[in-house]
Amino acid sequence: MSVKNLKKELEKVVTENTIKVLYLCSEAAEKLSLRLFLIGGAVRDIITGKDNFDTDITVQGNAIEFAHLLEQNYPNICKIKEIHESFGTVKVVFALSNEEIELDIASTRKESYPYPGSLPKVDEIGCDLYYDVKRRDFSINSMALSLNKENFGVLTDYLGGYDDIQQKKIRVLHEKSFVDDPTRIIRALKFRVRFGYELEENTKNLQENCLESGMFDNFCGERIKSELKQTFNLNKADAMEIFIRENIYRLADKDIKISEILSKSCESTILKYFEYINPDFIWLIYLGVLLSDFSKEKIAHITQKLYLSGMETNILMEAKTLLEKTDCGLTNFEVYEFFEGFMPKSILICLIKKPELKEKVDLYLKELKNIKIHTTGETLINLGLKPGPAFGEILRKLLKARINGEIFSEEEEKEFLKKILR
Ligand code: CTP
Repeated sequence: MSVKNLKKELEKVVTENTIKVLYLCSEAAEKLSLRLFLIGGAVRDIITGKDNFDTDITVQGNAIEFAHLLEQNYPNICKIKEIHESFGTVKVVFALSNEEIELDIASTRKESYPYPGSLPKVDEIGCDLYYDVKRRDFSINSMALSLNKENFGVLTDYLGGYDDIQQKKIRVLHEKSFVDDPTRIIRALKFRVRFGYELEENTKNLQENCLESGMFDNFCGERIKSELKQTFNLNKADAMEIFIRENIYRLADKDIKISEILSKSCESTILKYFEYINPDFIWLIYLGVLLSDFSKEKIAHITQKLYLSGMETNILMEAKTLLEKTDCGLTNFEVYEFFEGFMPKSILICLIKKPELKEKVDLYLKELKNIKIHTTGETLINLGLKPGPAFGEILRKLLKARINGEIFSEEEEKEFLKKILR
Protein backbone atom coordinates (compact mmCIF):
# COMPACT_ATOMS: atom_id res chain seq x y z
CA MET A 1 0.00 0.00 0.00
CA SER A 2 1.47 3.38 -0.98
CA VAL A 3 1.94 5.97 1.75
CA LYS A 4 -0.27 9.01 1.29
CA ASN A 5 0.74 12.30 2.84
CA LEU A 6 -2.14 14.78 2.99
CA LYS A 7 -0.29 17.68 4.66
CA LYS A 8 -0.86 19.94 1.65
CA GLU A 9 -4.56 19.05 1.47
CA LEU A 10 -4.85 19.76 5.22
CA GLU A 11 -3.19 23.17 4.84
CA LYS A 12 -5.67 24.05 2.09
CA VAL A 13 -8.77 23.60 4.25
CA VAL A 14 -7.80 24.86 7.71
CA THR A 15 -6.73 28.30 8.89
CA GLU A 16 -3.09 29.14 9.63
CA ASN A 17 -3.97 29.34 13.32
CA THR A 18 -5.39 25.81 13.30
CA ILE A 19 -2.18 24.54 11.71
CA LYS A 20 -0.22 26.40 14.39
CA VAL A 21 -2.29 24.70 17.12
CA LEU A 22 -1.87 21.28 15.52
CA TYR A 23 1.92 21.78 15.55
CA LEU A 24 1.78 22.80 19.23
CA CYS A 25 -0.10 19.55 19.94
CA SER A 26 2.46 17.67 17.91
CA GLU A 27 5.33 19.05 20.03
CA ALA A 28 3.54 18.17 23.27
CA ALA A 29 2.79 14.62 22.03
CA GLU A 30 6.48 14.10 21.37
CA LYS A 31 7.25 14.69 25.06
CA LEU A 32 4.96 11.81 26.07
CA SER A 33 5.86 9.72 22.99
CA LEU A 34 2.15 9.61 22.14
CA ARG A 35 0.73 8.88 18.72
CA LEU A 36 -1.62 11.67 17.74
CA PHE A 37 -4.11 11.79 14.85
CA LEU A 38 -6.80 13.84 13.22
CA ILE A 39 -9.67 11.39 12.92
CA GLY A 40 -13.09 10.58 11.48
CA GLY A 41 -15.15 13.18 9.60
CA ALA A 42 -12.25 15.67 9.68
CA VAL A 43 -10.03 13.38 7.60
CA ARG A 44 -12.91 12.62 5.21
CA ASP A 45 -13.45 16.36 4.72
CA ILE A 46 -9.74 17.03 4.13
CA ILE A 47 -9.73 14.41 1.38
CA THR A 48 -12.87 15.81 -0.24
CA GLY A 49 -11.61 19.39 0.16
CA LYS A 50 -14.42 20.58 2.39
CA ASP A 51 -13.47 23.15 5.01
CA ASN A 52 -15.08 24.14 8.28
CA PHE A 53 -15.15 20.79 10.03
CA ASP A 54 -14.81 19.91 13.72
CA THR A 55 -11.16 19.39 14.59
CA ASP A 56 -11.42 15.91 16.13
CA ILE A 57 -8.16 14.54 17.45
CA THR A 58 -7.40 11.10 18.82
CA VAL A 59 -4.55 10.17 21.10
CA GLN A 60 -3.42 6.57 21.19
CA GLY A 61 -3.26 6.64 24.98
CA ASN A 62 -4.97 8.90 27.50
CA ALA A 63 -6.43 12.11 26.06
CA ILE A 64 -7.14 13.64 29.46
CA GLU A 65 -3.50 13.33 30.56
CA PHE A 66 -2.50 14.76 27.20
CA ALA A 67 -4.85 17.74 27.65
CA HIS A 68 -3.33 18.47 31.10
CA LEU A 69 0.10 18.42 29.49
CA LEU A 70 -1.11 20.89 26.86
CA GLU A 71 -2.31 23.23 29.63
CA GLN A 72 1.04 22.98 31.44
CA ASN A 73 3.06 23.49 28.28
CA TYR A 74 1.02 26.42 26.98
CA PRO A 75 -0.44 28.01 30.14
CA ASN A 76 -1.19 31.37 28.56
CA ILE A 77 -3.08 30.13 25.56
CA CYS A 78 -4.51 26.68 26.29
CA LYS A 79 -7.39 25.82 28.64
CA ILE A 80 -9.35 22.61 29.23
CA LYS A 81 -13.03 23.37 28.72
CA GLU A 82 -14.75 20.03 29.39
CA ILE A 83 -13.67 16.58 30.55
CA HIS A 84 -15.69 13.37 30.05
CA GLU A 85 -13.90 10.79 32.19
CA SER A 86 -15.96 7.76 31.21
CA PHE A 87 -15.33 8.20 27.49
CA GLY A 88 -11.77 9.51 27.95
CA THR A 89 -12.59 12.64 25.93
CA VAL A 90 -11.78 16.27 26.54
CA LYS A 91 -12.37 19.64 24.89
CA VAL A 92 -9.57 22.21 24.92
CA VAL A 93 -9.47 25.78 23.66
CA PHE A 94 -6.45 27.60 22.33
CA ALA A 95 -6.78 31.37 22.48
CA LEU A 96 -4.57 32.88 19.82
CA SER A 97 -4.24 36.60 19.18
CA ASN A 98 -7.25 36.87 16.89
CA GLU A 99 -8.98 33.50 17.04
CA GLU A 100 -10.15 30.82 19.47
CA ILE A 101 -9.53 27.27 18.27
CA GLU A 102 -11.47 24.45 19.88
CA LEU A 103 -10.19 20.88 19.75
CA ASP A 104 -12.09 17.73 20.69
CA ILE A 105 -9.49 15.26 21.88
CA ALA A 106 -10.44 11.62 22.41
CA SER A 107 -8.49 8.66 23.70
CA THR A 108 -8.53 5.69 21.35
CA ARG A 109 -11.17 3.29 22.65
CA LYS A 110 -12.74 -0.10 22.08
CA GLU A 111 -16.50 -0.21 22.33
CA SER A 112 -19.25 -2.80 22.36
CA TYR A 113 -23.06 -2.66 22.31
CA PRO A 114 -24.71 -4.55 25.21
CA TYR A 115 -27.92 -4.95 23.18
CA PRO A 116 -29.15 -3.83 19.73
CA GLY A 117 -29.62 -0.07 19.57
CA SER A 118 -28.06 0.57 23.00
CA LEU A 119 -25.54 3.28 23.67
CA PRO A 120 -22.01 1.95 23.25
CA LYS A 121 -20.12 0.70 26.28
CA VAL A 122 -16.44 1.61 26.54
CA ASP A 123 -14.39 -1.58 26.93
CA GLU A 124 -10.87 -0.20 26.79
CA ILE A 125 -9.29 3.23 26.70
CA GLY A 126 -5.93 3.79 25.02
CA CYS A 127 -6.16 0.76 22.69
CA ASP A 128 -4.39 0.47 19.37
CA LEU A 129 -5.71 2.90 16.73
CA TYR A 130 -6.98 -0.05 14.65
CA TYR A 131 -9.68 -0.93 17.22
CA ASP A 132 -10.72 2.70 17.51
CA VAL A 133 -11.40 3.02 13.80
CA LYS A 134 -12.92 -0.45 13.54
CA ARG A 135 -15.72 0.52 15.99
CA ARG A 136 -16.86 3.39 13.74
CA ASP A 137 -19.76 3.72 11.30
CA PHE A 138 -18.41 3.80 7.74
CA SER A 139 -15.09 3.35 5.96
CA ILE A 140 -15.15 7.00 4.80
CA ASN A 141 -15.18 8.02 8.51
CA SER A 142 -12.56 5.53 9.64
CA MET A 143 -9.36 7.21 8.55
CA ALA A 144 -6.69 8.88 10.66
CA LEU A 145 -4.10 11.48 9.71
CA SER A 146 -0.89 11.53 11.72
CA LEU A 147 -0.04 14.70 13.62
CA ASN A 148 3.30 13.39 14.89
CA LYS A 149 6.41 15.27 13.86
CA GLU A 150 8.12 12.43 12.05
CA ASN A 151 5.20 11.69 9.72
CA PHE A 152 2.89 14.73 9.94
CA GLY A 153 0.05 14.34 7.41
CA VAL A 154 0.50 10.62 6.69
CA LEU A 155 -2.81 8.83 6.25
CA THR A 156 -3.69 5.63 8.10
CA ASP A 157 -6.48 3.90 6.22
CA TYR A 158 -6.93 0.35 7.53
CA LEU A 159 -10.42 -0.14 6.08
CA GLY A 160 -10.37 1.25 2.54
CA GLY A 161 -11.96 4.64 3.22
CA TYR A 162 -9.84 6.52 0.66
CA ASP A 163 -10.92 4.24 -2.19
CA ASP A 164 -14.55 4.40 -1.05
CA ILE A 165 -14.41 8.20 -1.22
CA GLN A 166 -13.07 7.95 -4.78
CA GLN A 167 -15.85 5.49 -5.66
CA LYS A 168 -18.46 7.50 -3.74
CA LYS A 169 -19.48 4.52 -1.62
CA ILE A 170 -20.84 4.28 1.91
CA ARG A 171 -19.63 1.01 3.43
CA VAL A 172 -20.17 -0.28 6.98
CA LEU A 173 -17.21 -1.86 8.71
CA HIS A 174 -18.87 -5.03 9.97
CA GLU A 175 -22.10 -6.96 9.56
CA LYS A 176 -23.67 -5.87 12.85
CA SER A 177 -23.07 -2.15 12.41
CA PHE A 178 -26.72 -1.14 11.82
CA VAL A 179 -28.03 -3.55 14.45
CA ASP A 180 -25.62 -2.12 17.02
CA ASP A 181 -26.57 1.41 16.10
CA PRO A 182 -29.58 1.95 13.79
CA THR A 183 -29.02 5.73 13.82
CA ARG A 184 -26.26 4.88 11.32
CA ILE A 185 -28.97 4.16 8.74
CA ILE A 186 -29.95 7.83 8.89
CA ARG A 187 -26.29 8.88 9.01
CA ALA A 188 -25.74 6.90 5.81
CA LEU A 189 -28.72 8.70 4.26
CA LYS A 190 -27.21 12.04 5.33
CA PHE A 191 -23.87 11.25 3.68
CA ARG A 192 -25.56 9.85 0.56
CA VAL A 193 -27.52 13.05 0.09
CA ARG A 194 -24.83 15.47 1.23
CA PHE A 195 -22.08 14.03 -0.96
CA GLY A 196 -24.10 12.26 -3.67
CA TYR A 197 -22.65 8.87 -2.57
CA GLU A 198 -24.32 5.45 -2.83
CA LEU A 199 -24.65 2.55 -0.44
CA GLU A 200 -22.21 -0.24 -1.25
CA GLU A 201 -24.11 -3.44 -2.14
CA ASN A 202 -23.58 -5.43 1.08
CA THR A 203 -24.26 -2.33 3.17
CA LYS A 204 -27.53 -1.88 1.27
CA ASN A 205 -28.55 -5.46 2.06
CA LEU A 206 -27.64 -5.05 5.72
CA GLN A 207 -29.75 -1.89 5.91
CA GLU A 208 -32.66 -3.65 4.24
CA ASN A 209 -32.45 -6.66 6.57
CA CYS A 210 -32.19 -4.47 9.63
CA LEU A 211 -35.28 -2.44 8.70
CA GLU A 212 -37.26 -5.46 7.50
CA SER A 213 -36.64 -7.33 10.73
CA GLY A 214 -38.85 -4.73 12.43
CA MET A 215 -36.56 -4.81 15.48
CA PHE A 216 -36.26 -1.03 15.40
CA ASP A 217 -39.79 -0.12 14.38
CA ASN A 218 -40.62 3.09 16.24
CA PHE A 219 -37.08 3.25 17.67
CA CYS A 220 -36.93 7.07 17.90
CA GLY A 221 -34.72 8.59 20.62
CA GLU A 222 -32.60 11.69 20.84
CA ARG A 223 -29.88 10.42 18.51
CA ILE A 224 -32.45 9.73 15.79
CA LYS A 225 -33.72 13.28 16.20
CA SER A 226 -30.24 14.69 15.82
CA GLU A 227 -29.57 12.71 12.62
CA LEU A 228 -33.01 13.53 11.17
CA LYS A 229 -32.33 17.16 11.84
CA GLN A 230 -28.95 17.14 10.09
CA THR A 231 -30.34 15.15 7.17
CA PHE A 232 -33.52 17.08 6.46
CA ASN A 233 -31.89 20.45 7.13
CA LEU A 234 -29.99 19.80 3.89
CA ASN A 235 -33.34 20.51 2.19
CA LYS A 236 -32.97 17.86 -0.48
CA ALA A 237 -36.03 16.09 -1.85
CA ASP A 238 -33.80 13.02 -2.28
CA ALA A 239 -33.50 12.63 1.47
CA MET A 240 -37.25 12.35 1.96
CA GLU A 241 -37.68 10.17 -1.13
CA ILE A 242 -35.10 7.66 0.08
CA PHE A 243 -36.44 7.91 3.65
CA ILE A 244 -39.83 6.74 2.37
CA ARG A 245 -38.77 4.41 -0.43
CA GLU A 246 -36.25 2.42 1.61
CA ASN A 247 -38.51 2.21 4.69
CA ILE A 248 -36.11 4.23 6.83
CA TYR A 249 -39.17 6.03 8.22
CA ARG A 250 -39.81 2.91 10.30
CA LEU A 251 -37.15 4.12 12.74
CA ALA A 252 -39.42 7.08 13.56
CA ASP A 253 -42.82 5.43 13.10
CA LYS A 254 -43.72 2.33 11.15
CA ASP A 255 -47.14 3.68 10.12
CA ILE A 256 -45.88 6.67 8.10
CA LYS A 257 -47.55 6.46 4.69
CA ILE A 258 -46.91 9.83 3.07
CA SER A 259 -46.35 9.79 -0.66
CA GLU A 260 -42.83 10.28 -2.01
CA ILE A 261 -44.27 12.83 -4.42
CA LEU A 262 -44.47 15.41 -1.64
CA SER A 263 -40.65 15.39 -1.29
CA LYS A 264 -40.11 17.65 -4.29
CA SER A 265 -42.71 20.11 -3.16
CA CYS A 266 -41.11 20.21 0.34
CA GLU A 267 -37.80 21.19 -1.23
CA SER A 268 -39.24 23.77 -3.63
CA THR A 269 -41.63 25.31 -1.09
CA ILE A 270 -38.81 25.74 1.43
CA LEU A 271 -36.60 27.37 -1.22
CA LYS A 272 -39.40 29.67 -2.28
CA TYR A 273 -40.27 30.82 1.24
CA PHE A 274 -36.73 30.65 2.61
CA GLU A 275 -36.89 34.17 4.08
CA TYR A 276 -39.61 33.01 6.49
CA ILE A 277 -37.67 30.06 7.93
CA ASN A 278 -34.67 29.76 10.19
CA PRO A 279 -32.50 27.21 8.29
CA ASP A 280 -32.12 25.23 11.49
CA PHE A 281 -35.86 24.46 11.44
CA ILE A 282 -36.13 23.17 7.87
CA TRP A 283 -36.18 19.56 9.12
CA LEU A 284 -39.35 20.29 11.11
CA ILE A 285 -41.20 21.12 7.91
CA TYR A 286 -40.23 17.72 6.48
CA LEU A 287 -41.18 16.00 9.74
CA GLY A 288 -44.46 17.91 9.88
CA VAL A 289 -45.34 16.73 6.37
CA LEU A 290 -44.31 13.15 7.14
CA LEU A 291 -46.57 13.07 10.21
CA SER A 292 -49.38 15.21 8.83
CA ASP A 293 -51.88 12.36 8.25
CA PHE A 294 -51.68 11.21 11.88
CA SER A 295 -54.03 12.30 14.65
CA LYS A 296 -52.81 14.92 17.11
CA GLU A 297 -52.49 12.22 19.79
CA LYS A 298 -50.20 10.17 17.60
CA ILE A 299 -48.14 13.21 16.60
CA ALA A 300 -47.75 14.10 20.29
CA HIS A 301 -46.61 10.56 21.02
CA ILE A 302 -43.97 10.62 18.27
CA THR A 303 -42.69 14.07 19.18
CA GLN A 304 -42.23 12.82 22.73
CA LYS A 305 -40.31 9.76 21.57
CA LEU A 306 -38.10 12.01 19.45
CA TYR A 307 -37.45 14.37 22.36
CA LEU A 308 -38.80 17.38 20.47
CA SER A 309 -38.87 20.61 22.47
CA GLY A 310 -42.16 22.33 23.36
CA MET A 311 -41.65 24.83 20.55
CA GLU A 312 -40.81 22.16 17.99
CA THR A 313 -43.89 20.15 19.00
CA ASN A 314 -46.03 23.28 18.74
CA ILE A 315 -45.01 23.85 15.15
CA LEU A 316 -46.23 20.35 14.19
CA MET A 317 -49.42 20.64 16.25
CA GLU A 318 -50.30 24.02 14.80
CA ALA A 319 -49.75 22.68 11.30
CA LYS A 320 -52.22 19.91 12.11
CA THR A 321 -54.78 22.42 13.46
CA LEU A 322 -54.40 24.46 10.30
CA LEU A 323 -54.81 21.38 8.11
CA GLU A 324 -58.02 20.54 9.93
CA LYS A 325 -59.48 24.00 9.30
CA THR A 326 -61.73 24.03 6.28
CA ASP A 327 -63.06 27.32 4.98
CA CYS A 328 -60.38 29.91 4.36
CA GLY A 329 -62.89 32.55 3.20
CA LEU A 330 -62.62 35.07 0.42
CA THR A 331 -62.08 38.55 1.81
CA ASN A 332 -58.64 39.66 2.86
CA PHE A 333 -59.71 39.79 6.47
CA GLU A 334 -61.08 36.22 6.35
CA VAL A 335 -57.76 35.04 4.95
CA TYR A 336 -55.99 37.01 7.69
CA GLU A 337 -58.11 35.40 10.40
CA PHE A 338 -57.54 31.94 8.93
CA PHE A 339 -53.75 32.16 9.27
CA GLU A 340 -53.51 34.63 12.14
CA GLY A 341 -51.23 33.48 14.97
CA PHE A 342 -49.79 30.51 13.08
CA MET A 343 -46.03 30.33 12.62
CA PRO A 344 -44.79 30.45 9.00
CA LYS A 345 -43.28 26.96 9.43
CA SER A 346 -46.72 25.53 10.29
CA ILE A 347 -48.28 27.45 7.42
CA LEU A 348 -45.72 25.97 5.00
CA ILE A 349 -46.40 22.41 6.20
CA CYS A 350 -50.08 23.09 5.49
CA LEU A 351 -49.28 24.58 2.08
CA ILE A 352 -47.25 21.54 1.02
CA LYS A 353 -50.25 19.32 1.82
CA LYS A 354 -52.79 21.74 0.33
CA PRO A 355 -51.16 23.50 -2.63
CA GLU A 356 -54.53 25.02 -3.53
CA LEU A 357 -53.92 27.49 -0.66
CA LYS A 358 -50.91 28.99 -2.41
CA GLU A 359 -52.44 32.34 -3.39
CA LYS A 360 -53.86 32.85 0.07
CA VAL A 361 -50.61 31.88 1.80
CA ASP A 362 -48.76 34.37 -0.42
CA LEU A 363 -51.30 37.06 0.32
CA TYR A 364 -51.05 36.45 4.07
CA LEU A 365 -47.26 36.08 4.38
CA LYS A 366 -46.29 38.80 1.92
CA GLU A 367 -48.94 41.41 2.68
CA LEU A 368 -51.62 40.90 5.31
CA LYS A 369 -49.33 39.69 8.10
CA ASN A 370 -47.40 42.98 7.96
CA ILE A 371 -50.37 45.36 8.02
CA LYS A 372 -50.50 47.48 11.16
CA ILE A 373 -52.89 50.21 12.28
CA HIS A 374 -51.76 53.52 13.73
CA THR A 375 -54.36 53.67 16.50
CA THR A 376 -53.36 52.19 19.86
CA GLY A 377 -55.01 51.87 23.29
CA GLU A 378 -53.25 55.10 24.21
CA THR A 379 -54.89 56.91 21.26
CA LEU A 380 -58.29 55.85 22.58
CA ILE A 381 -57.48 56.96 26.14
CA ASN A 382 -56.38 60.35 24.78
CA LEU A 383 -59.76 60.57 23.08
CA GLY A 384 -61.37 60.25 26.55
CA LEU A 385 -62.40 56.58 26.40
CA LYS A 386 -62.18 54.32 29.46
CA PRO A 387 -60.01 51.18 28.96
CA GLY A 388 -62.14 48.02 28.71
CA PRO A 389 -63.19 45.19 26.38
CA ALA A 390 -64.53 47.71 23.86
CA PHE A 391 -60.93 48.74 23.10
CA GLY A 392 -60.19 45.36 21.57
CA GLU A 393 -63.33 45.51 19.47
CA ILE A 394 -62.58 49.01 18.18
CA LEU A 395 -58.98 48.15 17.27
CA ARG A 396 -60.12 44.96 15.56
CA LYS A 397 -62.68 46.89 13.47
CA LEU A 398 -59.96 49.30 12.40
CA LEU A 399 -57.64 46.44 11.49
CA LYS A 400 -60.39 44.75 9.50
CA ALA A 401 -61.12 47.92 7.54
CA ARG A 402 -57.42 48.43 6.93
CA ILE A 403 -56.84 44.83 5.77
CA ASN A 404 -59.92 44.86 3.55
CA GLY A 405 -58.63 48.05 1.92
CA GLU A 406 -61.45 50.29 3.15
CA ILE A 407 -58.92 52.67 4.67
CA PHE A 408 -55.32 53.38 3.74
CA SER A 409 -53.81 56.48 5.30
CA GLU A 410 -53.55 57.60 8.90
CA GLU A 411 -56.07 60.36 8.09
CA GLU A 412 -58.59 57.85 6.77
CA GLU A 413 -58.08 55.76 9.88
CA LYS A 414 -58.84 58.79 12.10
CA GLU A 415 -62.04 59.45 10.13
CA PHE A 416 -63.06 55.82 10.36
CA LEU A 417 -62.41 55.84 14.10
CA LYS A 418 -64.59 58.89 14.55
CA LYS A 419 -67.37 57.10 12.65
CA ILE A 420 -67.13 54.03 14.89
CA LEU A 421 -67.11 56.14 18.06
CA ARG A 422 -70.17 58.04 16.95
N1 CTP B 1 -19.51 7.81 14.62
C1 CTP B 1 -19.90 6.48 14.58
N2 CTP B 1 -21.21 6.12 14.77
C2 CTP B 1 -22.15 7.07 15.01
C3 CTP B 1 -21.78 8.42 15.07
C4 CTP B 1 -20.45 8.76 14.86
O1 CTP B 1 -19.05 5.64 14.35
N3 CTP B 1 -23.42 6.71 15.21
C5 CTP B 1 -18.10 8.17 14.43
C6 CTP B 1 -17.70 8.39 12.97
O2 CTP B 1 -16.41 7.91 12.79
C7 CTP B 1 -17.71 9.91 12.83
C8 CTP B 1 -17.25 10.36 14.21
O3 CTP B 1 -17.80 9.39 15.11
O4 CTP B 1 -16.84 10.35 11.82
C9 CTP B 1 -17.71 11.76 14.58
O5 CTP B 1 -19.14 11.82 14.55
P1 CTP B 1 -19.92 13.12 14.08
O6 CTP B 1 -19.21 14.32 14.57
O7 CTP B 1 -21.35 12.94 14.42
O8 CTP B 1 -19.87 12.99 12.52
P2 CTP B 1 -18.90 13.47 11.37
O9 CTP B 1 -18.41 12.23 10.65
O10 CTP B 1 -17.87 14.43 11.83
O11 CTP B 1 -19.96 14.10 10.37
P3 CTP B 1 -20.55 15.56 10.24
O12 CTP B 1 -19.73 16.15 9.11
O13 CTP B 1 -21.98 15.32 9.84
O14 CTP B 1 -20.38 16.24 11.55
